[in-house]
Amino acid sequence: MTMSAGITELVPEALRTRIVALRRELHQQPELAFNELKTARSLEAALRELGIDDIRRVGETGVVGRVPGRNRSAPVVAVRGDIDALPIQEATGLPFASAIPNVMHACGHDVHASWAVGAAALLVSEPAEGDVLVVLQPAEEVGKGALAILESGALDGVAAIFGGHVDRRFDVGQVVADDGPLAASADMFEIELVGVGAHAARPHEARDPIVALAAVVSALQTIVARRLNPATPGVVTIGMVQAGSAPNVIPDRARLSGTVRAVEPQSRALMLSEVERVTKAVAAGFGVEAKVVIDKGTPPIVNPPRATKWAREAAIEVLGESNVVPLGFLNLAGEDFAHYMERIPGCFLRIGAREAGGPVIPAHSPVFYPAEESLFVGAAVLAECARVASRELAVGR
Ligand code: NI
Repeated sequence: MTMSAGITELVPEALRTRIVALRRELHQQPELAFNELKTARSLEAALRELGIDDIRRVGETGVVGRVPGRNRSAPVVAVRGDIDALPIQEATGLPFASAIPNVMHACGHDVHASWAVGAAALLVSEPAEGDVLVVLQPAEEVGKGALAILESGALDGVAAIFGGHVDRRFDVGQVVADDGPLAASADMFEIELVGVGAHAARPHEARDPIVALAAVVSALQTIVARRLNPATPGVVTIGMVQAGSAPNVIPDRARLSGTVRAVEPQSRALMLSEVERVTKAVAAGFGVEAKVVIDKGTPPIVNPPRATKWAREAAIEVLGESNVVPLGFLNLAGEDFAHYMERIPGCFLRIGAREAGGPVIPAHSPVFYPAEESLFVGAAVLAECARVASRELAVGR
């Protein structure tokens, strides 16, 4: 059952008009990670228009507004919307399509930012128990924005945080608020194998890094096949190999790089340490030295039970029980909301964004667009998440 008829009723008409206009404005003027200057100004203006006067710039392009609660000494909770776009040439043909060549809101962050502003508006008219911070976060796509917000101290003392992502695998009006793993970590590794070069006809004088590379590539496949608990999904992919410059020369070094995805902290730690251990051990067998550099990206998102219970309660309150649906599959894409959840309990939601009968279009596609009505669902659900969490925290549940 869907509830398209009731969706527009989730927020008052004046606010509907306002957040639709805001979203279209953001969509038309997309900006890349850490360059969201116009976006930040538009969002600040939108918050100010709501009568919110405590508005902080975090870094150059992040914005944090504080919506007063009924009891200023009650625990503070946060609602987050990310605001950055992607380097993609838009091909939706929408009347408000990107006016910037090769930059597009292809991941729906224009909608996420508008949710946060919409939630702020709803919390101004019906406040939570404690204050609510509305976090408009830059640079999600490069996995650095959440850290920038955290490092600013703007969220110090926040007791719970909520956010979500538009998702065309679900109808508008459906929301996923599952506990457990929801998004994977995304770490990169780079390996340099240093041997000894020689003439191709005199292999006995070389320590051939290409042969070692071949063995390392094969051996790394055994991390998922033989070391990881098969009940826990994970990925080790080598996406790039590089060696040699001529068919009759054994080079002195070879390089490979790839990515590790995990859905929980323990398997992430295991796979990363195995990449290093296996590589060094295999290379050593060939008399080749291995240098392994791990570039840690976003952690996995694992929604904890308590905050997820609040989010579910909020989603059910807004949409009805039958519209709070299970994810039904594991998502191995990364999401930098995970950085908050390493320090602050919270819940990350998937918010349906497919109009009735519409196609499933993946995010990051040049024709991706979230159904506009998902604006009202996200705003209403996130505001209610803040109210429920704030109330439950205040009574110490
Ligand atoms: Ni996204």
